[in-house]
Amino acid sequence: MTEQLLLRVERLVVEYPGGRHRAPVRANDDVSIEIAPGETLGLVGESGSGKSTLGDAILGFAPVVSGRIWFKDEDIAQASPGRRRELTRLIQPIFQNPFGSLNPARTIGATLREGLLAHRLASPSQADQRVAQWLDIVGLPPETADRYPSDFSGGQRQRVAIARALIMEPELVICDEAVSALDLSIQAQVLNLLSDLKRRTGLAYLFISHDMAVVEHMSDRVAVLHHGRVVEQGPAADIVNHPSQPYTKALLEAVPLPDPVAQRARRATRKEAHEPTQ
Ligand SMILES: Nc1ncnc2c1ncn2[C@@H]1O[C@H](COP(=O)(O)OP(=O)(O)O)[C@@H](O)[C@H]1O
Ligand SMILES: [Mg+2]
Repeated sequence: MTEQLLLRVERLVVEYPGGRHRAPVRANDDVSIEIAPGETLGLVGESGSGKSTLGDAILGFAPVVSGRIWFKDEDIAQASPGRRRELTRLIQPIFQNPFGSLNPARTIGATLREGLLAHRLASPSQADQRVAQWLDIVGLPPETADRYPSDFSGGQRQRVAIARALIMEPELVICDEAVSALDLSIQAQVLNLLSDLKRRTGLAYLFISHDMAVVEHMSDRVAVLHHGRVVEQGPAADIVNHPSQPYTKALLEAVPLPDPVAQRARRATRKEAHEPTQ
């Protein structure tokens, strides 16, 4: 594998097995993507297109049928449980609903300390200080450590989820609809935080969202997924300004424009495009 790449997914096929009355679902079909260190690859596509499946496959919890997932020079598609455990530190997820992934019965401090100690990133005496540092970095007050997830709003919880991921010093963070549940103004704050952290630490993101505007804002390059296949990928500006696929154009048209005049103009163009031509 080329030395400068952090992640290379090669011809990945992921299939959820069928049941007695259910056909198997091929959720990723021959997917290939690459991420360089410090780069953000946006992954966009409508609901059900296979975005989360790709993130889950990289994290080691989707049923990979074939293909390779190179993390640096190692194929991790079929990593052993022991190696997988080490990889969980280097590849961290941030999901849409942090409440689902934060233990409601544990203080935020205990949750953040847990990973540090499990992976021996800090001694018990250093851990509290590291937790305080990270709470500060993500913009939460120190007393957050003694509180519980239910004490916080969605945006604050997402900051906790970011601290929990970043405190592990990962090299790749998989953000799966990380801001999709948040109000627009809070979304912007959390996106800015994610961008700042990338600049500070040089980590790379796989940034998954159904929202093309968010993906464009965050990404160096973008891959467009449709029915489990990558239909288009390239520099974010090229994909947004010169989409080659009708599917990508349709995704772009679903993005609300900030300017009402532009919005009206676009509506008019779309109407023309959909009118019969005879
Ligand atoms: N655990 C699962 N078992 C069976 N089918 C699944 C499972 N997870 C996802 N799928 C199916 O795989 C396809 C892709 O889903 P997903 O990767 O979640 O898409 P996205 O994140 O783009 O919305 C969908 O058809 C979905 O119903
Ligand atoms: Mg999803």
